[in-house]
Amino acid sequence: MVTLGVNIDHIATIRQARRTYEPDPVWGAAIAELAGADCITVHLREDRRHIQDRDVRILRQTVQTKLNLEMANEESIIAIALDIRPDQVTLVPEKREEITTEGGLDVAAHADAIAKSVQRFRKNGIVTSLFIDPDPAQMKASAECGAEFIEFHTGKYANAQTEKDTAEELEILTQAAKTAHRLGLRVNAGHGLNYKNVQAICKLPYIEELNIGHSIISRAVFSGLSEAVREMKDILRRESV
Ligand code: PXP
Repeated sequence: MVTLGVNIDHIATIRQARRTYEPDPVWGAAIAELAGADCITVHLREDRRHIQDRDVRILRQTVQTKLNLEMANEESIIAIALDIRPDQVTLVPEKREEITTEGGLDVAAHADAIAKSVQRFRKNGIVTSLFIDPDPAQMKASAECGAEFIEFHTGKYANAQTEKDTAEELEILTQAAKTAHRLGLRVNAGHGLNYKNVQAICKLPYIEELNIGHSIISRAVFSGLSEAVREMKDILRRESV
């Protein structure tokens, strides 16, 4: 069965909108695990727009499944990862101005630096995954860097507007998964996956884990909203004179 990594960054996004204590992504991780999540994923961005250092430190102590830290291959963040020791690191490209991770990591262009990080993580018992586009050159470079996993960026598939484009992107991912397996890489995927488009992705060959964030947190807002309003309304009813 394909396993589920729940990305809880957007719980922190709501908290950071007020710079307050709620909603706490640490609570979110516990609820996700109780509901069956196989992995908790957080992205510690250089600009700290959502997840904070404190979150990752506490999550390291509380997460009982697997803690996957998404991060740029940048020394200050590497130092944090080596200190906190998540179970897995997923190296992603990162630009400060982007809304989310907009493309895969260019492993081929940064092979030496990435290979060095993969080795440092391995020495510290941390598995490395590389977030890449389903591109043969990137897969080959990822295997040469010694990464255990690659995570295919499914954004192009998720954003395809027509049935034909969707089928084409799915075929690219299918062929890429086969190539990755031949190269000895284990295969994860994520980005832009939702309750509809995930179905075909579950059927990709060799797929092990999907990392899904935005659509789960979005759905949680609506599945929880009526209860939240009811609770507030109950207080007003009870307390009004
Ligand atoms: N995988 C990686 C490597 C990501 O960077 C992200 C977004 O933070 C996701 C998965 C989850 O994407 P989404 O929030 O669109 O489900």
